[in-house]
Amino acid sequence: MPAAPLEVVNLSAGYGPTRVIEDVSFSVAAGERLAVLGRNGMGKTSLFATIAGQTRRYGGEIRLAGSDVANQPSAARALSGIGYVPQTRDVFPSLTVEENLFVGLKSRPKSAVEEAYTMFPRLKERRTNLGSQLSGGEQQMLSTARTILGQPRVLLLDEPLEGLAPVICEELMAAFSRLAQSGDTTILLVEQRIQSALEFADRVMIMERGRIAWTGTPQALQQDHEVVDRLLGVGGLH
Ligand SMILES: Nc1ncnc2c1ncn2[C@@H]1O[C@H](COP(=O)(O)OP(=O)(O)OP(=O)(O)O)[C@@H](O)[C@H]1O
Ligand SMILES: [Mg+2]
Repeated sequence: MPAAPLEVVNLSAGYGPTRVIEDVSFSVAAGERLAVLGRNGMGKTSLFATIAGQTRRYGGEIRLAGSDVANQPSAARALSGIGYVPQTRDVFPSLTVEENLFVGLKSRPKSAVEEAYTMFPRLKERRTNLGSQLSGGEQQMLSTARTILGQPRVLLLDEPLEGLAPVICEELMAAFSRLAQSGDTTILLVEQRIQSALEFADRVMIMERGRIAWTGTPQALQQDHEVVDRLLGVGGLH
């Protein structure tokens, strides 16, 4: 059997002396869609940032298709196939939309930016505008599109729907599903819109204080009101 695209083993990490990820272990299969949920401040962003190499790691392994990348700097991990779309939109303000997209292409031909314009027609309309001239939602689209253009094997999406209009959210989730169905991309999604996350995911992982507190299917979660109340802090999912 081929190695899992991503396997995390006994991972602990934080910022300076503050530990915020505690002994986290999980793995995801090729083409799997994993939703990472949890209340504010529970470590979702820190987990993604740690996988991408942007926090201080205290221990544990991060295996990408079987090889441990935990000692690689974040740029090397990106080249190895980890695509990270951070919660803070990540665009170059002094480059145009199209130049921002070129940065994401790695060694692909420039014509591949058309894939981003198909996914987000709005970016095509704005392609000569500077990153600094975009609205919050447009920056979100640009940051997401740029990472996807790099064809990551593991795509970490931290609240990609934040600030986007409902119709665009639906289109975007459909585009993410198509990416996962192609079998080449494994997607980890953090999302506050729990219903959208559950419709998208094959499996759910809930974090509490830096640890994995619950794992199961979206169906199992929807039936477990105690877990929903305690770990997501919402009175039901509807
Ligand atoms: N740069 C940082 N330096 C120090 N502590 C941090 C830093 N970023 C986050 N933390 C702390 O780490 C913990 C986890 O935060 P994190 O951002 O990972 O949570 P989250 O689950 O993504 O929350 P949210 O749903 O609000 O985005 C929190 O206690 C937070 O205060
Ligand atoms: Mg977060």
